[in-house]
Amino acid sequence: MKNERDEELSGLQYLSQERPEAMQHLLAFFKESGRHLDPKTRFLISVVTKVINFSPRGLRQYLPRALKEGASRDELIDAILCAYPAAGLTKVVDAIEVLRELDREGKLGAPAAVAAEQEAQWMPVLRAEEVPAGEARVANVGHRQLAVFNVGGEILATANACVHQGGYLGDGFLDGEVVICPLHGWQFNVRSGACITRPGQQVKAYEVRVREGQVEVLV
Ligand code: FES
Repeated sequence: MKNERDEELSGLQYLSQERPEAMQHLLAFFKESGRHLDPKTRFLISVVTKVINFSPRGLRQYLPRALKEGASRDELIDAILCAYPAAGLTKVVDAIEVLRELDREGKLGAPAAVAAEQEAQWMPVLRAEEVPAGEARVANVGHRQLAVFNVGGEILATANACVHQGGYLGDGFLDGEVVICPLHGWQFNVRSGACITRPGQQVKAYEVRVREGQVEVLV
């Protein structure tokens, strides 16, 4: 069975046969237009355009290629986010879903090797007393935005953006270990990040430690 890349190539080949004059110029243009860009940058730009046009097939093609050319996972996510002004939030969130699918299918390389490359480190988030028991807060750690929760005195943290449409979980209502997204009410276990409303969906849950009142997360 043909894979998606084969389907795209055969489409191009078909057009090249049917419209050789037009395609010759078009392909020459593609080749020339990226001449001064390194492959990683070219593929990251392709990711941005595939988000704007929302092409899951294009994303499945260019996300792994950008990674192969040396892009980090954070750069892939940044490229998707860069499309936001033109694409809007729904397409950005849908593109993130494609990235996560590729990840689950093991098509973004060996996660363990990538994680080792990116060297996890403890980063300060906020002071524990800034999050009263039973409440949540939004906090920034470098370029990441986290939701920090106080569950009966225990501090827990997840990514802030809801996987549905980006609602701020740190602004959500906390009920025990469950946060309710303020936008459409999806519920997440803040210890595991698992979505209760939509089993199988997940926000990232961070490892947390508190040292002399300072909350730190492993990123
Ligand atoms: S953004 Fe819709 S439930 Fe969170």
